[in-house]
Parts: sequence; structure tokens; C-alpha cells
Amino acid sequence: MVSSKVKVLSLLSIIIALIAFLYKKHTDDRLRQKLDHVLSGLLQAEKKATPTVPQIKIAIGFGGCLDYVLDALEFAKKFNLTAPDEPEHYDSVESKEQLSKLFAYFFRYGAAAERFVSNETLFKEVIKEAEGMARLRKALGGNAPLMARRLSLEGANVLLASRLSKELLKTLPDTIKVIGNPIDVDDIHVILEYDSGSQWENFTAPRANRLIIHSDNRNPHLETLEQFEKELEVFDPSLLVIGGLQMMDNFPFQEGERYTRLQKLQNLLAKTKSSTKIHFELASFTDKSLIQDIIETVVLYADSLGMNEQELPNLISQLTGDNVTLISDPYPRTAAVLDQMRTVYRYLMNTKEINGHRRLTRLHIHTLAYQAILTSKESQWKNTMSAAAKASLTANRYVCGSDNIDTMKVRLIMDDSFSSSKSEFGKRIMFTEDKPVSCWEEEDYKICVAPVLVCTAVLQTAGGGDNISSAALLYQI
Ligand SMILES: *[C@@H]1O[C@H](CO)[C@@H](O)[C@H](O)[C@H]1NC(C)=O
Ligand SMILES: *[C@@H]1O[C@H](CO)[C@@H](O)[C@H](O)[C@H]1NC(C)=O
Ligand SMILES: *[C@@H]1O[C@H](CO)[C@@H](O)[C@H](O)[C@H]1NC(C)=O
Ligand SMILES: *[C@@H]1O[C@H](CO)[C@@H](O)[C@H](O)[C@H]1NC(C)=O
Ligand SMILES: *[C@@H]1O[C@H](CO)[C@@H](O)[C@H](O)[C@H]1NC(C)=O
Repeated sequence: MVSSKVKVLSLLSIIIALIAFLYKKHTDDRLRQKLDHVLSGLLQAEKKATPTVPQIKIAIGFGGCLDYVLDALEFAKKFNLTAPDEPEHYDSVESKEQLSKLFAYFFRYGAAAERFVSNETLFKEVIKEAEGMARLRKALGGNAPLMARRLSLEGANVLLASRLSKELLKTLPDTIKVIGNPIDVDDIHVILEYDSGSQWENFTAPRANRLIIHSDNRNPHLETLEQFEKELEVFDPSLLVIGGLQMMDNFPFQEGERYTRLQKLQNLLAKTKSSTKIHFELASFTDKSLIQDIIETVVLYADSLGMNEQELPNLISQLTGDNVTLISDPYPRTAAVLDQMRTVYRYLMNTKEINGHRRLTRLHIHTLAYQAILTSKESQWKNTMSAAAKASLTANRYVCGSDNIDTMKVRLIMDDSFSSSKSEFGKRIMFTEDKPVSCWEEEDYKICVAPVLVCTAVLQTAGGGDNISSAALLYQI
């Protein structure tokens, strides 16, 4: 009697386990199927347009460096960084203790950041430690060279303003014309990468990201500016891309030097022919006066802007006169980001076209979960839908380090539907698996949003923004 009861019970539990297993298998299969659909939808959207290469002429400035890519936690351990009780933010880093606090500050939000190390001795120690690490990966770095390489690989005719060592120059395709005399020793940027969910004592990173530290004395001066200016007149590109200005952030310039350099850049942009479109790629800034200067000298001259979700609220607060936001939501709601995009567009689309100023006609925001591109209807930017798909696929390919996307190594963060705005005018936009890129028109502009198949086997995150931005731009010129 007792034994048959036991038998029934154990049979029952086997049945329950089997049902649970089948149910899980069913939902797993369903999820895989959904990911496969999204992937093939994105691939189709990518193929719908072909970029206008080869031979399209693109000029890119400024800067470049040698990246030391490291596992952040391994480095923290080797370098004896102890997790602080209280994370803290510093505009620039002076000591080991500040480095620990700063790292913790961004790590716990999984937020990207890039900071100047003002203590040379400390930075030398960092380099020495890095060089002793088995898993150190050295690579060409800097927004401009990375974008240049990407665009050149796609077949464009590229002019690059960057001073690099002979060794790094060798890593660039020969087809890129480099402005700037070679240097003996490259500036090193240390990239501390971490994975989603990784733990540093009692801190946990909610997403994969990196902290970049450097003590770069060359790039903040935009040394190639004068030569670049001369060369540009002859080259006459279809697109001029400006990036790398974040190197000026918190750099100890001589009084007035920073503004003088930016003004020089402003002159260059102001006299650029209107047939040359200007794109500016923003990056991590903390110095409010620098952002203000950059808005005045660069942003007002740009036809197109690219940035991530951290930089977007920062730009808005500067345009509207508020404070710099150091950290913003790492998983911003689509509606919130779209509203912020409208704000930036409204501010900058009305720029009076005098003194070389340009109206903003394109805005590309890259976030972990999706890519959003806004283009004005009257502008010449083409293929916004394919460009968004391309950006999304590039995000996965870059982070996973492979051209073939494996749906076993991805996840979707975007919900099944999203609201187009937090305001009363917001429409609910359904996300369709087979046609994953949603595009719609409002007033005088068009918006396309493409979900990202977020890579879960992260190889690299630093430089992703540049890779993504340039891939999308090529579809639009
Ligand atoms: C870290 O601590 C260990 C053990 O105390 C020591 O051998 C090593 O030199 C330290 N490294 C640094 C970079 O301070
Ligand atoms: C981490 O632990 C320390 C004590 O070991 C504590 O003081 C600190 O508040 C903790 N931090 C967090 C984020 O929980
Ligand atoms: C600079 O770094 C060195 C090496 O870590 C350290 O000994 C020194 O105290 C630091 N200087 C300041 C001003 O914090
Ligand atoms: C951008 O990513 C692609 C992989 O999709 C890679 O082939 C290319 O080399 C990357 N470009 C740079 C500059 O890292
Ligand atoms: C900006 O920051 C300053 C100093 O932290 C603070 O006093 C001021 O209230 C802030 N302004 C806004 C608009 O948040």
C-alpha cells in the first residue's frame, strides 16, 4: 500500500518534470524561432540597399592611438585595486584610490566612460601591469582610424587625419591616405572591458561595457588640423566625419589653447562646401564648458550627429542649459530616447544657415537594445531603413567579433511593442519579427528603429560606436 503510493507519487513527479521539460523546450524553441526570424528580417533589410561605394570620398579626423584591451576584473586583481565602500566620480584620475572609486562608479551601472589620468607615474604603473598580463590584446584605437578602416574596408576612398607610429600605420589598408607625420611612440589607451553580470566584490555590472583610461598628451591638440585643412580643399569629399574631440576632456591645456584649437576647426567647417556633408560623432564628455564650446564650434556646423544613449541626455542638457549628466539609464525606454531625439532635432533643425552654420538633418542614436535613426524628409540622406538594420547587425558583429551571427549567442532586449513618445501623441508601435525595422513619419522627418540582437559572448565593446556609426552612414550618402 505504502509502496504503491510512493510509486504513484514518483510517477507523478516524473510526469511533472517531463511537462516542465517539454514546456521549457517549447518556449526555448519559440524563442530561437523568434530570434531566427528577427535575424533574417534584419539581413533582408540590410540587403535592400547597397551603399554608394566604391570611390565615394570620405575625410575623417582626428587622432588615433594604440589600445590595450584588458579584462577589467583581471586587471583590478593584478593591480590590487580594492573595491571601495563608496564609488565616486572624478573628472580625471590622480591616484589608485580614485581609479578604484571611478571604476566602481561606472561599473555598477555598466556605463561607458573615458577619463584622463593626470598622474603620469600612476599611468606608467598601469601600462607596466597591463604589459605583464597574459590576455593583453593590442589594437589600433581612436575614433578616426577605426571609422577610416571600416569605411575603407567597405570600399570608400578615405583621407584620415591622424598621427600614428609606423607599426600602427601598417595595420591600416594602403588605400587610406593618412595626413600627419608618423610618430615614434603611440599614445596608449587602456581599455578595461567587463561582461554583463560580472562581479567585483559586491558590485555587479548590469551590462557589458568598458572604462577607458589614458594619459594622452598628443591627441587633445588636434595636431593634424592645419595639414588636414589644406588637403581637404583638394580632396573635396562627399562626407567629412569629425570625431575624437573627447580627448580634450579634462586635459590640462594652457589657458585659452583649447578654444583656439576649436576655433580653428570651426573655421575649417564653416568654409567646407555645402556639397560635403558633415557628420560629428560625440563621445564621453564631462566638462560642461567643453561641450558648450563644441556645440558652438562643431555641432552647429554638422548635418548629422551620432552618439550613444549616455551622450544624448548630456547634449540636451547643454542645449537647454542644464547640467552634465554623468550616468543615465543604461536601458532607456525607447519612448524616452525618441523624445530626446526630437528635442535635439528641434533645437538644431532650426539653426540659421548663416556663417556656414547648417541645419541638422540626421541623428543616429546607438543603444544596447536598438538603433534609432532620424532623418529629415527633405534631406538627401537615403535608405534610412536599411541603415538602421545595418547598424543593428554591425553592433552584433562587432561585439561578438564575427560576421556570421549565431542566434545561440544573442538575446533581444527590446519589448514586443514600444511607444513612440511619452507624450499624449505617442503611438504604440508593434514589433514584427519578420519585418523587425519599424519606420514611420512625423512632421518633416522620418524615424527608423531596429532592434539589436545583443551579443552574449562579448569579445569587445570599445570602438563599437564608431564601427556602427560608419557602417550606417555609408548606406545614407
Ligand atoms: C599587489 O599585491 C601583491 C601582494 O601584496 C604584490 O606582490 C604586488 O606587487 C602588488 N602589485 C601592485 C601593482 O601593487
Ligand atoms: C560593499 O561592502 C562594503 C563592506 O564590505 C560596504 O561598506 C559597502 O556599502 C558595500 N557596497 C554595496 C554597493 O553594497
Ligand atoms: C601618483 O601615483 C603614484 C603611483 O601610484 C603615487 O605614489 C602618488 O601618490 C600619486 N600622486 C598623487 C598626487 O596622488
Ligand atoms: C568593424 O567590425 C567588422 C566586423 O563586422 C570588422 O570586420 C571590422 O574590422 C571592424 N572595423 C574596425 C575598424 O574595427
Ligand atoms: C547644476 O549643478 C550645480 C552644482 O552641482 C547645482 O547647484 C545646480 O542646481 C544644478 N542645476 C540644475 C539645473 O540641475
